[in-house]
Amino acid sequence: MNDKEQGHSDVVVGLQYGDEGKGKIVDQLSSAFDIIGRFNGSHNAGHTIDVQGKKIVLHMIPSGVCNPNIKLYIGSGCVINPLKLQEEIQELKEAGMSLDGRITISDKVGVICPHNILFDELNGKELGTTGNGVGSAYADRALRKVGPRLKHIQIAEILADRANAKKAMVQNLVDLIENSVGVIGEERASQITAEIEQVMESYLNAIQELADRNFITPDPLFLEQQLQTGKNVLFEGAQAAGLDVTHGTVPYVTASHTLAGGAYTGGDIPPQYHRKTYGVAKALMSRVGNGPFVSELGGEQSEQHCAQKDKKGHTLYTKSYEAEQFQQEELLNTDDLYSIGVALRMLSGEYGSTTGRPRRIGMLDLVQLRQNCRLNGVDELFVTKLDQMILYTRTKLKGIPLVTGYTLDGKSIDYVPTAASEQRKVVPVIEYFPFIDRDISPIKRFQDLPKEAYNLCLYIEEAVGCCLKGVGVGPGREQMVFL
Ligand code: IMP
Repeated sequence: MNDKEQGHSDVVVGLQYGDEGKGKIVDQLSSAFDIIGRFNGSHNAGHTIDVQGKKIVLHMIPSGVCNPNIKLYIGSGCVINPLKLQEEIQELKEAGMSLDGRITISDKVGVICPHNILFDELNGKELGTTGNGVGSAYADRALRKVGPRLKHIQIAEILADRANAKKAMVQNLVDLIENSVGVIGEERASQITAEIEQVMESYLNAIQELADRNFITPDPLFLEQQLQTGKNVLFEGAQAAGLDVTHGTVPYVTASHTLAGGAYTGGDIPPQYHRKTYGVAKALMSRVGNGPFVSELGGEQSEQHCAQKDKKGHTLYTKSYEAEQFQQEELLNTDDLYSIGVALRMLSGEYGSTTGRPRRIGMLDLVQLRQNCRLNGVDELFVTKLDQMILYTRTKLKGIPLVTGYTLDGKSIDYVPTAASEQRKVVPVIEYFPFIDRDISPIKRFQDLPKEAYNLCLYIEEAVGCCLKGVGVGPGREQMVFL
């Protein structure tokens, strides 16, 4: 192999609990790459883009879609819901972005089937999953059932033997309905059964359509060949280190490998091509779904607030409902961290782009960030939404709070404990830093940041031991300051 002609791959990963603004970083970096790839997750991810004034939420399609010169790849580490993917492709087409000739999907990708979605609906509430059947589809992969009991349906299986795949998909749903009729009720069970044929056909047809449009590759070396011929790939990690199936806050995690190393299994190329890892963290942290969150403003009270449902089982505290119910200024004007958390969510607009759920808000946690930078081997760190730190100025706190240490059972520790029960017992060490009281959103150069913001960045860099490459100062594409 000729090294000179060979391309390279870089990986962008989230370092907290997702929603760090990875899409914006991918967007910034993408022009230096030929292909943007996904290696994990599914449409549980969400990234909003602005296409000529119209907001489109990308779930499965990599963020590079806006640049017509960039090709897109969905690797074997992902699972897809073919109907949702079809919808997303159609929405992009209507916005003037055709994917014909641009997207390639590995035929090893797993298909999220109707039984996976029902399973998630019945079992995902305690975790606060996105309800898309993602975890159940990954679990089926690990089950390794064969023949008519086949559970893990790869795209290739549908294309190779549609009849067998359909039989297995139907059987899986029928089995689940039988086992859960006591929960879902006779009426719903008969309704699902009556529609089974039509629903399965729509899934199979959607996969066939993707194949007919040449979006599916049967070639395990498709992406590797692109790199051999000099193409460069940027992998866009979905979710984040805190949600990794092993390294996250187990069991309150997503079901895939989210760390940078995952790109070299789920992304279908070997690690020899790896060049750099970019890590993304958000200055004001957030988390959706349940699970420990050491630096959460308002702790358990905030977790419960955000998980509340209305009588119909829908999210109660949506953006509009919180806006109706709460007065931001009153909430800010207390010493109560829970109220401050609600106000900061409202002011920073932290509501899920996939599910509309309120995001739990937390202080920047440097213990977790340092650990996740090292686990991912982050070469360059980006901190997004630094401008949101200004919001602390409107509170009665004595400065910008950062978590700089942990204590567990009275002892100081410098790592995130593994057991969720222990994470919940961690008492954060909070240090306060001088308020940033000037709007930093128009600033273009690092040296022009007010000294409080500048010093805060240097402190973060030093504390996590990782080169800080850029900070976000506003929502716009160009609102990044590079060091
Ligand atoms: P699942 O991935 O739908 O199984 O959900 C598992 C956990 O991961 C839940 O806490 C979700 O809220 C969280 N999660 C999944 N995808 C994302 C994401 O893109 N951003 C933030 N959290 C996510």
